[in-house]
Amino acid sequence: MTNYHYGLFAIIFVTSAILVPFSLASVVSTGNFNKDFFISWAPNHVNTSADGTTRTLTLDHESGASFDSNSMFLFGQIDMQIKLIQGYSAGTVVAYYLASNSPNRDEIDLEFLGNVTGQPYMLQTNIYSDGFGNREERISLWFDPLADFHTYSILWNVYQIVIMVDWVPIRVYRNHANKGVGFPRSQPMSLKTSLWNGEDWATRGGKDKIDWSKAPFAASFRNYKIDASTLAFARVCHAQNSPQDYVDAHNAARAEVGVENIEWDDELAAYAQQYANQRMDDCALEHSQGPYGENIVAGPGDASGIDAVKMWVDEKANYDYDSNTCAPNEMCGHYTQVVWRNSVRLGCARVLCNGGGIFITSILAFAQLCNAQNSPQDYVDAHNAARAAVGVGNIQWTDDQVAAYAQQYANQRINDCALQHSQGQYGENLAGGSGELSGTDAVQMWVNEKANYDYNSNSCVGGDCLHYTQVVWRNSVRLGCARVQCNNGGYFIGCNYDPPGNYQGGRPY
Ligand SMILES: *[C@@H]1O[C@H](CO)[C@@H](O)[C@H](O)[C@H]1NC(C)=O
Ligand SMILES: *[C@@H]1O[C@H](CO)[C@@H](O)[C@H](O)[C@H]1NC(C)=O
Repeated sequence: MTNYHYGLFAIIFVTSAILVPFSLASVVSTGNFNKDFFISWAPNHVNTSADGTTRTLTLDHESGASFDSNSMFLFGQIDMQIKLIQGYSAGTVVAYYLASNSPNRDEIDLEFLGNVTGQPYMLQTNIYSDGFGNREERISLWFDPLADFHTYSILWNVYQIVIMVDWVPIRVYRNHANKGVGFPRSQPMSLKTSLWNGEDWATRGGKDKIDWSKAPFAASFRNYKIDASTLAFARVCHAQNSPQDYVDAHNAARAEVGVENIEWDDELAAYAQQYANQRMDDCALEHSQGPYGENIVAGPGDASGIDAVKMWVDEKANYDYDSNTCAPNEMCGHYTQVVWRNSVRLGCARVLCNGGGIFITSILAFAQLCNAQNSPQDYVDAHNAARAAVGVGNIQWTDDQVAAYAQQYANQRINDCALQHSQGQYGENLAGGSGELSGTDAVQMWVNEKANYDYNSNSCVGGDCLHYTQVVWRNSVRLGCARVQCNNGGYFIGCNYDPPGNYQGGRPY
């Protein structure tokens, strides 16, 4: 497109990856302009029928007008019925096109160039790839485009772009990217329409100007059909990438469903940043496979952090609470991560990738506390992993006896957090630490003593190992653990074992 810089909104887009494999959602449009499009220029020059199915743009001395799709698309077919300006239309341009919103933009253009009364309307097509166009072609239509609506279609896939008029192909642009010919294939594009003053060039090379005495000029659109893969979209006025922006966007969504706030965590932010940096070369939508929940996005343009969060939150429409599932073929995993109650810490990062400088990736990491790994199952699993490693059978949680004993003793230590043994009938391992120390951390600490245990001599070498031998003691088959916060702020963790291990002269296994 030439000479077209209007628009009240900037549009950006972000693509989405999921917790599971990446996929694109296919959309079929609603047929209601009010739902699928927004007015991007001069709302007072746009008229939409009450049922939303027909929309008219007008051009007068004051302004033209335009509207754009809410979504951006990567491949698909788009049909639109258009009725062009009646009577004198020289100098006007009715445009219907797909365009990306990046400096090196892709575009697939249909431009209807008006004419003086009685002279033929001309349809000019053009294809931009990576910022380069100059591929104009013009044809005269074989019918009177003013008399009625006709269907103008863009079929865009990875092999070719076919532009059709009433299903008759008028231009086929094949993908010869492998021979160095530009082809739009990686940037999502939104669907746009506009009516504007192109009198400098449109009609007979600019010889026939607009006759404002004939204004307003009006072109109408209706019965569109969009069958395309959508990459979510968002509108922004300025970048919003601060920690507070991320946090606020999350907490707004969480509050809506009664979930408490998430908090920024510098450690997680550092993790997110480090991983984002690793993706700078390829911007690939691959997960870090780390210990945290993670939502990621990548895309061209100036997607901000809150655009990304908004995109995930928009998946709420696909989440069915009762069945706790996503609607068929729809994504909702990003949304459920955003509002996941036990995810209480958040860190995010956003980097500009190297590929031409227009790709951006954002990564969000969440701490999944999942009960902070202090559940009976967590203790049991941590023990049994260590036991299995040396061929020892499982240990089992025993609520009423061993666990009750552990809890009772831990409660006694609340005042001093002292690592003193209870001197009871059970085997016992104790640990103390800050709030970060979870039950499984404590077990892990004990298991780490394995390095000091010399099986042959059945003795500790180079350090303590008796916590470890208790963990893997074959005859200790019942377990109970407890974790309390002491009055000094620290945590006391104790596990008891029945029957006790570590008796004189015995071997763990
Ligand atoms: C808008 O369109 C409706 C019919 O769809 C028409 O009745 C009305 O006059 C139009 N208004 C303007 C300002 O064009
Ligand atoms: C307008 O009509 C003239 C003939 O009067 C024709 O040469 C021209 O191609 C038509 N269209 C445009 C866009 O100039």
